[in-house]
Amino acid sequence: MASTPPAAPGTSTPGTSTPGESTSGASIDPRALRTALGAYGTGVAIVTALDAGGQPVGMTINSLAAVSLDPPLVLWSVQLDTPSASAFRQARHFALSILAADQETIARQFARTDSDKFSGIATTPGSADVPLIDGAVVHFECEAWACYPGGDHEIIVGKVTRLASRPGPTLGFHRGRFTTLADA
Ligand SMILES: Cc1cc2nc3c(=O)[nH]c(=O)nc-3n(C[C@H](O)[C@H](O)[C@H](O)COP(=O)(O)O)c2cc1C
Repeated sequence: MASTPPAAPGTSTPGTSTPGESTSGASIDPRALRTALGAYGTGVAIVTALDAGGQPVGMTINSLAAVSLDPPLVLWSVQLDTPSASAFRQARHFALSILAADQETIARQFARTDSDKFSGIATTPGSADVPLIDGAVVHFECEAWACYPGGDHEIIVGKVTRLASRPGPTLGFHRGRFTTLADA
């Protein structure tokens, strides 16, 4: 198949680019953006906290990213109009459980708006009683450090106060599908 080499920086003609189709400027289509970001494979985590009434809240995320080693900071972003958003924006403590490769059903369960996401899910209470997902490959227990506006999301930065990590294949998410990230 014939292919066109990428244009040098600053040389692309408006309306054309490689690779694939282009979209630019103010007209970035949210679906095109989501599809493009899907090329950036990630792990999958469940973020958990307690709401103001002490009830557990949790949701599947893949926006987890490293921020700082000293102090130890991580971030994730929450969609502002999702039902759990206010609980997470107010929580002083939260936990991140990075899922193992065999925990796809948990990822799917926590990605549905549901009053009982924790049904059938084994958890262990961590700091401030925030539930940790059993069987995850990593647990980060965090204190809320800062929140920043991020368009239709809020960026939540946490200071890691405790961590547990074990080897083993992790659940991945790439181009809209769950996958396995195996140890080298
Ligand atoms: C792989 C994957 C990653 C996700 N990442 C995020 C994320 O980083 N932030 C977010 O707000 N929602 C994310 N979601 C969507 C939420 O999990 C979903 O909207 C969930 O229902 C939110 O919980 P709630 O309905 O209780 O508010 C993701 C979903 C999947 C399947």
